[in-house]
Order: sequence, then structure tokens, then C-alpha cells
Amino acid sequence: MTDLSAIPNLHVINHPLVQHKLTLMRKKEASTNSFRRLLNELSMLMAYEVTRDMATQEVEIETPLEKMNAQMIDGKKLVLVSILRAGNGILDGMLTVVPGARVGHIGLYRDPKTLQAVEYYFKMPQDMQERDVVVVDPMLATGNSAVAAIDRVKALKPKSIKFMCLLTCPEGVRTLHKAHPDVAIYTAAVDRQLNDHGYILPGLGDAGDRIFGTQ
Ligand code: URA
Repeated sequence: MTDLSAIPNLHVINHPLVQHKLTLMRKKEASTNSFRRLLNELSMLMAYEVTRDMATQEVEIETPLEKMNAQMIDGKKLVLVSILRAGNGILDGMLTVVPGARVGHIGLYRDPKTLQAVEYYFKMPQDMQERDVVVVDPMLATGNSAVAAIDRVKALKPKSIKFMCLLTCPEGVRTLHKAHPDVAIYTAAVDRQLNDHGYILPGLGDAGDRIFGTQ
């Protein structure tokens, strides 16, 4: 079994603000309103890390005082791919930080018996071959949805793919890394384990229900 420390592209974002907000979200008494607000704030903070290596180019601009060469993001706009429905909870925060990003959606549900991902929706922006992609889902649990989503995105041959979640567990990291070793994983925490129903322990419960107030 792969030791997680042997996975070089697993990035656990240990920033105190990220950890603090995640702890508040985990609490069972957190309201839908505060869960959503915290997820929004966390997504902004995590976007900062995920985009750290974006390419920039030097452009000439004029300040009110003189001309200068300054850095701007290079290339076609980033694509955020949301795994429905919980992935949508991450979009607002990320789009606040990267407002020009394009957005793709993949609808996958987990078959409750097999825990395998079944696709029901797929819509991506144009020119995927010229774009960098960040696939987002708050929970990387079994890893099956993430693998299925990345299989589909990879077939469109984007320049690069990263995966961003809030929480994961050793099973999810191993499954995703085994299927897609080239995809860097960004998370705020790696929890202890999965339970028999595919939930992360200690986790934060069902992210979709907590974001949308459906339970
Ligand atoms: N999806 C969730 O929303 N929560 C989990 O713990 C696992 C998958």
C-alpha cells in the first residue's frame, strides 16, 4: 500500500486560517448559512495555493508616473470543473479570486450499492486543449467520482489537471493517485478513514446536504 508521504503531488494546505475554518465547518452544529460562508472563504484561500504556479508574462503598462514592465497571468483562462452537486459550493469562492475562469460541470452520482460513479451530465468550455483545469469537489472519499471525472476531462487533452477538495482520506488519495499519478491533489486535511457507506471519518458529514440545507 502506498505510503501517503511517497505521493509528492499531494498538497495538504496547513495554513492556520484554513485549518481554523475547516474545524468550524466540521462541527455538527454549524448552520447551513455558516457552513456555506466558511466553504466560500476556504475556497478563496485554497485557490491561492492551487494557482501558485500559474504562468505569468511580462507586459508593459503605464502607471500615473511612468512606464514599467509588470507581471500578468499568461495564456487562456483557467477552467474550474465542478463535480455536481457539492463541487458548486467551491465555485463562488474560487471565482472571487479568479474571476475570469471558465466553468465546466460534470454530473455524477454514487450508486449506493456499488459506490461507483455514474455520469448524468457533462458540459465543458471550448478549447480545452489550450487550458489548465482544476477539478473541484469538497470531499475526495472513495475516489471513484474524482477518477471518473478526470477520465472524462483528460480525454479532452487539457494542458494540465489539478484536483482540489476540502477533505480526503487515505483511500481516496490512493485511488486517485493510482488512476491519475500526474494529477496534483490539494486538500485542507487527510482524515483517518472511510466508513462502509463511503463517508469520511471523522469528516464533516454529507457536504452537499450541508451546503444546500437538504437534510
Ligand atoms: N461525500 C460527502 O459528502 N461526505 C463524505 O464523507 C464522503 C463523501
